[in-house]
Amino acid sequence: MTGSNRRHLRRNYSAGGNGARPFKARLALPFAVTALPGCTGIQSVLDPRGPAASTIADLSWAMFAGAGLIFLLVMGLLAYSLLAGGSRREGLNVNRFIFSGGVVLPIVTLSILLFFVFQIAGKITKEPEDPLIVEITGHQWWWEIRYIGDESQQDVTTANELHLPVGRPVKLRLRTEDVIHSFWIPSLAGKRDMVPGMDNTLVLEADTTGLFRGICNEFCGAQHALMRIFAVSMPAAAFEEWLATQRRPAQEPADDLLQRGRTVFNETGCIACHTIRGTAARGVTGPDLTHVGSRRTLAAGVLRNTRANLAAWIVSSQHIKPGNKMPDYPMEGERLLALAAYLESLK
Ligand code: CUA
Repeated sequence: MTGSNRRHLRRNYSAGGNGARPFKARLALPFAVTALPGCTGIQSVLDPRGPAASTIADLSWAMFAGAGLIFLLVMGLLAYSLLAGGSRREGLNVNRFIFSGGVVLPIVTLSILLFFVFQIAGKITKEPEDPLIVEITGHQWWWEIRYIGDESQQDVTTANELHLPVGRPVKLRLRTEDVIHSFWIPSLAGKRDMVPGMDNTLVLEADTTGLFRGICNEFCGAQHALMRIFAVSMPAAAFEEWLATQRRPAQEPADDLLQRGRTVFNETGCIACHTIRGTAARGVTGPDLTHVGSRRTLAAGVLRNTRANLAAWIVSSQHIKPGNKMPDYPMEGERLLALAAYLESLK
């Protein structure tokens, strides 16, 4: 085999071309496969889709780079102190070096960081112009979302799915009905706690259309991990249309099955906790169900919103999300089918 042939083969091999992957690449692959999905997707601080989230991501990258440099510096000094000869190593053991590395360097680095943090905090908490105002209330374990109307229009209440127009800031009033929760949609903005007895605000904005997922970020009881929220950003016109639809009372049952479903809803006790605008149901303990059929998920992002899952949630919500405030409602198949079909029809 000639030298150039050998070089050619080696090149193919290390590019992972036709041959087997080199050892190092095989070793790196599992790490890449586990780490990379964290960098993109609907719930990632590293894939920002709004001004506040972008600013925070930039700061994170700057801090990551700074911390990386300091880590390399410290490891270099450690290697030097272990490997260098006796007299050169002695050079490290002087007060001036300890003072500059242990006192001056941290003060300078942290002061620079503090300056940027103040600047960024000022930027992302600035009062926005012409914001859409939405009140979000944390409950164990779901989110109540209220679009505040003006003199001419009533508020619109929905749950677990925040719709927002692209390019317009949304000012969120964050409150809680019970314990401390924390609202966080990583792709759109930083997190903010919801504290009993006080209203916090958070401004978020999406600069692309899309679907994003958020989570409750403060331990709030047994089902804290199953307290998710979705944000749907859409063009302004589509958003106005969506809001107008949500403002309407619930659709009347279109056939006998749905009519029967509504009767079951009223007889079974659902009306004690849920509101369906346009009907006798006025309960306020659980989510407003006026347009529940239009939402993507049930139980705060836990189940896909299908007729089967609606039925499953009604009969065994305590199995799906133990400890939540909705009791299981065992019922015969025909009544359950009608009830689930009725709820599904509330688009
Ligand atoms: Cu709500 Cu954790």
